[in-house]
Amino acid sequence: MNANHGSSAAGQGIDIGCEAGILTIGFNRPDKKNAITGAMYQAMADAMKAAQADAGVRVILITGLPQIFTAGNDLEDFMKNPPTLAESPVFQFMMQMVHATKPVIAAVSGAAVGIGTTLLLHCDLVYAADNAKFSMPFTQLGLCPEFGSSLLLQQGAGLRRAAEKLLLGEAFLAAEACEMGLVNRVLPGAELAAFARAQAVKLAALPASSLQATKRLMKADQRAAIEARITEENAAFSAMLRAPEAKEAFAAFFEKRRPDFSKFS
Ligand code: COA
Repeated sequence: MNANHGSSAAGQGIDIGCEAGILTIGFNRPDKKNAITGAMYQAMADAMKAAQADAGVRVILITGLPQIFTAGNDLEDFMKNPPTLAESPVFQFMMQMVHATKPVIAAVSGAAVGIGTTLLLHCDLVYAADNAKFSMPFTQLGLCPEFGSSLLLQQGAGLRRAAEKLLLGEAFLAAEACEMGLVNRVLPGAELAAFARAQAVKLAALPASSLQATKRLMKADQRAAIEARITEENAAFSAMLRAPEAKEAFAAFFEKRRPDFSKFS
């Protein structure tokens, strides 16, 4: 990756750019609410991997569009190509997030659904616009938490509140996300991008070795626990993705009706 200019995968729904040591990964698929396809995950995984190896990249910044961060996994793509555990683009991307040694910042405006919220649990700094809305509607889709969210959410939010968010899967707003420790700060929408970038600029000017040592030390205690939980969650998630409950939920979404889970025990 060229640390001064970067590259773009906009055709795939992801904008990638690198300037002044800041790699920016931006969701950009407005017609589908930034729903993430396998190709988009692959573009993000490749960019994160290249950033990891490029000393010119000091900070990673993940953004969306003013009205939408991401609607999460592309449900059509998911139905057609259910991800396998270790090789799938989503797994590659999330492992890059989990193991990133460089600071990762997210700037969220609009809805962050499913993995759009899950990925925030692996970011170091999360800034949200006042229109941000978070949800992990896994149970509503016949699925279960993934990529460490059953462990990490309750660490900030407490078990009671994490249970509410993960069992009911209902959306919650930026102020509550901030109270729960999911978000560092809530800003007016018009100020979010500039604020997040200014934080990235500050980090990029600090010694990379200090940042990386600090991040590594903060995460040292829970690294093994997160990896073990991800393995457990993803085995369950992968099986549930192929089960009739998820098929009913996905079909209901595209048929714009409520799912009927009453026939499943
Ligand atoms: N996968 C695939 N397509 C999606 C999608 C997803 N996750 N989310 C939205 N889309 C598509 C819709 O099918 C629609 O396509 P169409 O115009 O061809 O009919 C388009 O994006 C606009 O979506 P719409 O639902 O009309 O927008 P909205 O503003 O009313 O609602 C959301 C936005 C994000 C709240 C809503 O789209 C939603 O709940 N999406 C599903 C989220 C989800 O369950 N994600 C998976 C988590 S694992």
